[in-house]
Amino acid sequence: MYLDFLGLREKPFSITSDPSFLYLSKRHREALSHMVYGIRERKGFIEITGEIGTGKTTLCRALVRQLDPTTKTALILHSNLSELQLLHGVVQDFGLDPMRNTRVDLFQQLNRFLLDEATEGHNVVLVIDEAQNLSLRLLEQIRMLSNLETDKEKLIQIVLVGQPQLRDKLNQPSLRQLQQRIAVRYHILPLDADDIRTYIEHRLRLAGSDGSVRWLDDAVDEIFQFSHGVPRLINLLCDRALLACYVFRVKSIDRELIRRSCQEMLGQPLANSTAATIPMEQPA
Ligand SMILES: Nc1ncnc2c1ncn2[C@@H]1O[C@H](COP(=O)(O)OP(=O)(O)OP(=O)(O)O)[C@@H](O)[C@H]1O
Ligand SMILES: [Mg+2]
Repeated sequence: MYLDFLGLREKPFSITSDPSFLYLSKRHREALSHMVYGIRERKGFIEITGEIGTGKTTLCRALVRQLDPTTKTALILHSNLSELQLLHGVVQDFGLDPMRNTRVDLFQQLNRFLLDEATEGHNVVLVIDEAQNLSLRLLEQIRMLSNLETDKEKLIQIVLVGQPQLRDKLNQPSLRQLQQRIAVRYHILPLDADDIRTYIEHRLRLAGSDGSVRWLDDAVDEIFQFSHGVPRLINLLCDRALLACYVFRVKSIDRELIRRSCQEMLGQPLANSTAATIPMEQPA
């Protein structure tokens, strides 16, 4: 009913980090290019930072999808891990069967894997998301993983992705060695005002929109004011706005509807508003 009324095949503004919905804004394109460059050129460490909800996890997933099949990749999405859990996760994600469960054994297994892949001419990439949560000890462990190298290049490329605190963490004196090895850095900024409409239309198109819901310019301006271009906030707000369209049986989204959606999201129903409250749960 909801999707039918809005002329959609699926929900366009989910807050999962689904790379098939990736919109390559200038910043996201640059971030991806930095990662791909660092990996292809075998630069060792790559650091990608961005504020909450700016698209880091989505980009990590998109990166893994687009690397060529000879590049062996492990993607670690949770960082509150012990040293052993991290090594175990990395070994498994590279498609290996963890032989034994001690730190030294897993480390050796990884080193052997890296040498084998190097002999085959394959590149190896480890992407760690939420890296701002890694303990100093784990970061040091990761640095040691990258010690294997030939005269010319690193055998493993490590992409550390995280919130801006990651940079502060890496600036600590005890991590200077790692910090100095970071060859490529990029900080993802939120979307520009100019990007908002294309971002929204991109997601709507991928969700099979028939274009029957109109997003007026003042609504798009209001979405930017509220979200400051942070994609997760845009998604939350747009999702709510579509729900309001369905509830009130309207097909045009204007500033007022967006304002009302913002207020609802923030849990502050508008004073003097005679409009019905938009229900919290969205119908399937
Ligand atoms: N470039 C983009 N194109 C399409 N959707 C995006 C883009 N960037 C972010 N999003 C969407 O915004 C939401 C948040 O993105 P994501 O989870 O990747 O952010 P994050 O930076 O990893 O957040 P956190 O700091 O909380 O880990 C997701 O729904 C995601 O699909
Ligand atoms: Mg994330």
